[in-house]
Amino acid sequence: MTREEQFKYLEKLREEAKLGGGEKRIEAQHKKGKLTARERIDYLLDEGTFVEMDMMVRHRSRDFGLDHQRPLGDGVITGYGYIDGRLVFVFSQDFTVFGGSLSETFAEKIIKIMDQAMKVGAPVIGLNDSGGARIQEGVVSLGGYAEIFLRNTLASGVIPQLSAILGPCAGGAVYSPAITDFTVMVRNTSYMFVTGPNVVKTVTHEEVSSEDLGGADTHATKSGVSHLSCDSDIEALQKIRQLFSYLPSNNTEDPPKLNSVDPVDRAEESLDNIVPENPNQPYDIKDVIVKVVDNNSFFEIHEDYARNIVVGFARLDGFSVGIIANQPAYLAGVLDIDASVKAARFIRFCDAFNIPLVTFEDVPGFLPGTHQEWGGIIKHGAKLLYAYSEATVPKITVITRKAYGGAYDVMSSKHIRGDMNLAWPSAEIAVMGPKGAAEIIFKREIAEAPDPEKMLAEKEKEYRDKFANPYLAAERGYIDEVILPRDTRLRLIQALRMLENKIDKNPPKKHGNIPL
Ligand code: HXC
Repeated sequence: MTREEQFKYLEKLREEAKLGGGEKRIEAQHKKGKLTARERIDYLLDEGTFVEMDMMVRHRSRDFGLDHQRPLGDGVITGYGYIDGRLVFVFSQDFTVFGGSLSETFAEKIIKIMDQAMKVGAPVIGLNDSGGARIQEGVVSLGGYAEIFLRNTLASGVIPQLSAILGPCAGGAVYSPAITDFTVMVRNTSYMFVTGPNVVKTVTHEEVSSEDLGGADTHATKSGVSHLSCDSDIEALQKIRQLFSYLPSNNTEDPPKLNSVDPVDRAEESLDNIVPENPNQPYDIKDVIVKVVDNNSFFEIHEDYARNIVVGFARLDGFSVGIIANQPAYLAGVLDIDASVKAARFIRFCDAFNIPLVTFEDVPGFLPGTHQEWGGIIKHGAKLLYAYSEATVPKITVITRKAYGGAYDVMSSKHIRGDMNLAWPSAEIAVMGPKGAAEIIFKREIAEAPDPEKMLAEKEKEYRDKFANPYLAAERGYIDEVILPRDTRLRLIQALRMLENKIDKNPPKKHGNIPL
């Protein structure tokens, strides 16, 4: 071949690779409301920054006629590029090629970029759209999956791993996204399950659609497998870009600090009256969060799951922080199994990636009942305690109202290495609520009183006056400062600045044994 012919041949191969499974299948993909694997990469990355690797890879299968079908790239597009100028590695499964199914070579391509990402300390973003293991290949495909799972595990806590589910993700394939840090799903076009509706019907006789069994809303509300639900591929990819803006590229870096135009000392007087006088009346903790953090910077995670606790990223004077907040507007902000697990996982992510924790506390305690006890609230609540206790990032707490019982200890208290523990004057820090406390410690007096109800009310008031405030805790130094609600933003930023170079370490160990 002449030099010119060589170049033309290369160009021809590139064009062929870019067509994936061909025009017809691309059209079918679009008809389903989905983008192609390449279009997704274009929306995810800064324009023109994608550098593709392994475009010429072809599978090595010989069985079931596959030796006559050896498309370039083998159904997954891999490489690197930039988001807001920051390096990321990407794999994008191409459903138009053998249904995006995973072969030995397909896995090798993913493994290559994962290994490279670990060496250079950059995140891996996986765009999933696949029929699972390539059926014609058998065990080599399964081996490929396992090699990916291993790398997902080894990379956990070293580089952020983000997953978008943009089509089917079934069988053991679900475990790769499940090990990654955050999963985004798209309503009506994506689903995740270990076994699909047909197998479910055979085994359990349940009739359920794919969407109900493992669609975006199911995993966002019922299982908690998905962290963000979107209405389109484009929205999902934009959410991943947004999420990445709060994260460092690896565990040795701090998250990017942006310039904030929101004044550090912006006093928010409306916070002074946000907590109702009646302690049983709810208010929305998200109103507090939004008023305190930098303008429009709150990015909620797991919004529709365990709504009694709110978690998400935000910025304070440009610092990226992880917010954990009890939500009095939902189940009175009680801690239950799902809320504990939701918050514990978020806290561990933030701690692994040097993101300070800001906790807003208004919690009546752990949820009672057989459902919770038999479901293991003891071990699940312990996860939250464990996560807060082991975290060495800056930890700042604001008690807005109730901090009762074990929940007081758990929610980033001073005793488990809270760095700055603040309370509003409305804080009630005690072993339990005044009514329950009075009923127990004045049981006899109340029973013997001519008017037991009046006596209970009196004793309740006595207990409330004595304990339902922040000052006994402040007297001991368990609360560093009682602040006016309007000053919360300033105080949080002052604390973050003070803690910017915090160093704290846990004892050397292989790993802890979090109560799973
Ligand atoms: C090889 C596959 C494939 C697979 C789909 N295709 N899945 N090829 N291996 N796993 C091919 C189809 O033959 C078809 O090829 C093309 O991809 C598109 O598939 P369709 O069925 O036409 O698409 P659609 O109707 O949208 O259905 C998508 C689907 C279905 C629901 C994913 O294809 C399906 O059920 N596939 C099998 C899923 C499965 O059982 N996978 C194994 C799971 S076990 P043509 O040439 O006709 O276009 C597993 C274990 C992982 O994954 C273990 C890890 C530990």
